[in-house]
Amino acid sequence: MEEILEKLGITREPVEIILTTYFPNSKIPNAAPMGLEYQNQKLIFHIYEETDTYKNLIANEAGVVNVTRDLKIFANAAIKKQFQLNEFERADVVNAPRLKAADGFIEFIPTDFFDYMKKDDLGESEISKVEAKIEKIYVKNFVPVFKRNTSPSLRAIIVATKLQVALGRNKEVIAKKLRKKLEETITVAKNLPKEKRAAEYIEKLIQEYSLGQVE
Ligand SMILES: Cc1cc2nc3c(=O)[nH]c(=O)nc-3n(C[C@H](O)[C@H](O)[C@H](O)COP(=O)(O)O)c2cc1C
Repeated sequence: MEEILEKLGITREPVEIILTTYFPNSKIPNAAPMGLEYQNQKLIFHIYEETDTYKNLIANEAGVVNVTRDLKIFANAAIKKQFQLNEFERADVVNAPRLKAADGFIEFIPTDFFDYMKKDDLGESEISKVEAKIEKIYVKNFVPVFKRNTSPSLRAIIVATKLQVALGRNKEVIAKKLRKKLEETITVAKNLPKEKRAAEYIEKLIQEYSLGQVE
């Protein structure tokens, strides 16, 4: 198991994956980008308690780590939040969905939740450190996961999610700063041949979801 995780690049260093869960008492799937670490044979996530992912993990006690390098999937999961039902299938051994397009899956069961507070520009947020036990790993293609802070497009998507939170909390000054940062990050990504198309897609989503507009 350790060997497979290492081959995927999942170690103590934080990486970015897509976490899929079902909404409580339903088979309606949800997908969200999340950070992941692997320590002492446990998967570790730090998840904002206001997210659906956190609520779903608490309710169903199950989730799937989807391994992908498809930036479009990250952008859709973070900004658009609309997938077709047929893009998912049921996990093999846990009560959670998985994304058919992913290259590998780690099906897991959360074992412990440790709550703590984080204070930043956006105000105070409750976060849960979630520890989880691996139930099954299934790899279709060995693609290395994204390490944190290595892709400008992923950085742009993270800024876009923060901007959504800032707008939801009516933090206009911070939203303005984040819009500027978003623009800068997208420009960097557009100048990278490997990320140009993804950056253009993110830009389109931002316009569609009115994140780029200054009121
Ligand atoms: C690359 C990337 C990494 C992220 N990592 C985390 C994370 O570790 N914890 C977290 O709570 N949110 C993280 N986010 C933000 C969530 O994906 C975002 O809040 C999302 O809207 C949550 O969706 P949900 O409400 O459907 O769970 C990340 C976003 C991106 C783009």
